[in-house]
Formats: sequence, C-alpha cells, structure tokens
Amino acid sequence: MTETPWTAHEPLLAAAREAAGATYSPYSEFPVGAALLTADGEVVHGCNVENISYGLTNCAERSALFSAISQGCPPRSFTAMAIYAPKVELISPCGACRQVLLELMAPDCRIVCQGSDPAQTRVWTLEQLLPGAFNAF
Ligand code: THU
Repeated sequence: MTETPWTAHEPLLAAAREAAGATYSPYSEFPVGAALLTADGEVVHGCNVENISYGLTNCAERSALFSAISQGCPPRSFTAMAIYAPKVELISPCGACRQVLLELMAPDCRIVCQGSDPAQTRVWTLEQLLPGAFNAF
C-alpha cells in the first residue's frame, strides 16, 4: 500500500505547532506540541509540562492522550497524532510515550513527526516505532 505523503497531515501538524505554544518547559527549554485526531475528526492538543522534580514531567504525546481519554474519547480510536518540536531538526517520541501510544492509539494509526526542518518530516506506524512490543492487545 502506498503511504500517504506527510503533507496530507499538514492540518494536524499545524495544530501540533499551536499546541507547542502552551508548553511549560522552563527546565529543558525544549517545547513540544502534540495534536491527536479523534474518531469524530476532533483535534485534542497536548504539550510537555515539566516539574522541578524532573521525573514528574509529562511529554506532549502523553498529555494529549490523557486529555482525550479524560474527555471521554474511547481508547484505541485515535487515527493519527502529530508531534512538533522546534529545537530539533526532527522529533522522535521517547520510549515511554511509544509504549503509551501503542496501548491507546488505533492499531493502524499514523504518528507524524516534525521538527525545525519540514523536509525531514516522518510518518511512522506503531510497528515501526516499537517493534516486538510488550502489548496488552
Ligand atoms: N519531550 C516531549 O514532550 N516529547 C518527546 O517526544 C520528547 C521529549 C519533552 C520532555 C521534556 O519536557 C523535554 O521534552 C525535554 O526532554
């Protein structure tokens, strides 16, 4: 099957760029925004939220997913997530977020990652992000 070009996800990427504006990241100064596409076509924003106790930090990806679940969206109904981080050429989700994405995104979803260089934008499947995963489903 031919993969949809990343440019088809531009509206969701635009939402991720907007979400990055809400970041609370005074320690890393590394803003990240995420935008989650629900089954109804709604977009749920997330950003990274840090804490002086560094390990309590929540990544943008998990912020978006936990927000959507909290709003009543069904788990595993999300068809795409866009992630944006302006301080790297291309962002790639951390290992913890990959495990959470695996459990809460739709199995055939797409994860669209963009940094400061749009030409490097990548569209990932969950299998590509976390092959051979420990999976609940
Ligand atoms: N971060 C995210 O929000 N998402 C990622 O994909 C990578 C890292 C955040 C965590 C922390 O607030 C900052 O970026 C630096 O690691």
